[in-house]
Amino acid sequence: MAIAAIGGRIFGGLNREVHTNMDTELEGFLNSLGEAERAGGRVLHELTDQAQSLELRELLRKVGHDEGYYAGELAAHVRRLGGMPSTKTGDFVEKVRAVGHFKDKLELLNRGQRWVVRKIGEQVGTITDARLQAFLRVMADGHDVNIGALDNALAEGKL
Ligand SMILES: [Fe+2]
Repeated sequence: MAIAAIGGRIFGGLNREVHTNMDTELEGFLNSLGEAERAGGRVLHELTDQAQSLELRELLRKVGHDEGYYAGELAAHVRRLGGMPSTKTGDFVEKVRAVGHFKDKLELLNRGQRWVVRKIGEQVGTITDARLQAFLRVMADGHDVNIGALDNALAEGKL
């Protein structure tokens, strides 16, 4: 029941805030992040299956859920602001698949995550929509947490 109530509020919000012309630069930026997050979710799903340590597996599963959450929220913001969310998946999936060793894949994953944090940092100050700005700050902080957790797991030798 609580979930239905939340859903109703989200969709009510979408219906109230219909814009016809979303800034194309902002739309492109959010969609590029969304494609990266969707790719991240796919990568994490694949890496989770390859983890030997149960703790690393749980961590990767959690990070993957976060990626999926961010992708969904980015699409919702684009829609709310009158844009068209991209349904593409970024080429990061192929880049990680092309790397041979599991540990190198995880390190590449974290480099990709740092790219997301950097891109948000470059743009977040220019964003005038308060809800979107707050979301992006939380998304960047969430990435920092996940990057740190994976760095720690690798430093402890968990694979
Ligand atoms: Fe990400």
